[in-house]
Amino acid sequence: MEYTILGRTGLKVSVAGLGCGGPSRLGQRANKSEKDSIALVRQALDMGVNLLDTAEVYGTEEIVGKALEGIPRDQIVISTKKAFPLRDPKDPVGELKKSLEQSLRRLRTDYIDIYHVHGVEPQEYPYVSDNLVADLLRLKEQGKIRFMGVTEAFIEDTKHQMLQRALEDRWWDVVMVGFNILNQSARAAVLSKTLERNTGVLVMFAVRKALSQPARLSEIWAELKQKGLVDGGSSVGGPLDFLIKEGSSSTIPEAAYRFCRHEPGVHVVLSGTGSADHLKANIESLTKPPLPAAVIARLREIFGKVDCVTGN
Ligand SMILES: NC(=O)c1ccc[n+]([C@@H]2O[C@H](COP(=O)([O-])OP(=O)(O)OC[C@H]3O[C@@H](n4cnc5c(N)ncnc54)[C@H](OP(=O)(O)O)[C@@H]3O)[C@@H](O)[C@H]2O)c1
Repeated sequence: MEYTILGRTGLKVSVAGLGCGGPSRLGQRANKSEKDSIALVRQALDMGVNLLDTAEVYGTEEIVGKALEGIPRDQIVISTKKAFPLRDPKDPVGELKKSLEQSLRRLRTDYIDIYHVHGVEPQEYPYVSDNLVADLLRLKEQGKIRFMGVTEAFIEDTKHQMLQRALEDRWWDVVMVGFNILNQSARAAVLSKTLERNTGVLVMFAVRKALSQPARLSEIWAELKQKGLVDGGSSVGGPLDFLIKEGSSSTIPEAAYRFCRHEPGVHVVLSGTGSADHLKANIESLTKPPLPAAVIARLREIFGKVDCVTGN
C-alpha cells in the first residue's frame, strides 16, 4: 500500500480507501451476510487500507465497528456522515448530537476522524453553514470529531456548485467529490481550490456503472456524442477500448482507478465493492503507476468538455 497525508488534517492515509456505501454497501445490497461484509473490511485492512468511509444511512457502520474489533483505534481513519437534509430541521443541534452518538455507538468508538455533512445540494448549503457548522466546530473542540467534511450530491450537482461555494469557507478540512474519466470537471472547479487551501480530498464515483459495465458506457457515450461533447475514443468496440488494446491497462476499472489516483490534488480514491476479487484487483490498481502521459492527455482531450454525467 502507498500512503499520503490528507491535506491539512495531517492524517496519514492509504491512497485506496474502502467505500462502505455506493451501490454495493460491502455486499449488503446483494444480500451478503454480515460475516462476509466483515471479512471484506478485514481483507481491505490486511491489504493496508486504513481509511474506511461509511455513513449513518448506509447501514454499514455496525459492520465496520465489528470488523475493527481488536485493532488499535489510532491505526484507522474512520470517515462517516450525518445524513442531510435533516429529519428535524427545527432542531439541528439536537439531531446532530443524537446522530453522532448513534454513529459512535455503532462504530464502537468514542471519536470520529472525519465527520461529513452528507450529500449537500447547492441550494441546501446556506442551511448547513447557518445551522450546523457552529455545532460541528464545538464537537471538534470537544474531541468527538477530529475533522469536518462535506460531501456533494454528485448526481444532482455534476458541476460541483455546492463544493465551489463550500470552499469559500475555511472550516472544511476534507471534501468528498465525484471525479472520473468521464466527468473531469472537478479538476478546475474543485481541485484547483483544494490544492491552494490544502483541503483533504476523497474521490467517489471513480468507476461506478459506466466504467465497470460496457453496455452502460456505450449508452453514456452515445448521449455525449449526440450532445457534441466528445470526440475521438476507439472507432470500433467500446470508446475506451484503446486503453486495453494499446496495453496501458488490463481492464477499464483498472484504468479508471489509476486515472483518479494520480490526479493532482486527490489524496484518497474510494473503492466500493461487495466482491473480494474486485477489492483485491482495485487495491492493486490503485497502487500501480500512473497511466502513460499520452493516454492521460488523450482522456483529458476526449472528455474535457463533459460536466453533465456521473457515470452512474
Ligand atoms: N454523496 C456521498 O457522500 C457519496 C455518494 C456515493 C458514494 N460515496 C462513497 O464513496 C464510495 C465509493 O463509491 P462509488 O460507488 O462511487 O464506488 P466505485 O468504486 O466507483 O463503484 C462501485 C461500483 O463499481 C463496481 N465495481 C467495483 N470494482 C469493480 C471491478 N473491479 N470490476 C467490476 N465492477 C467493479 C461495484 O460493484 P461490485 O460490488 O460488483 O464490485 C459497484 O457497483 C462509496 O462506497 C461511499 O462510501 C459517497
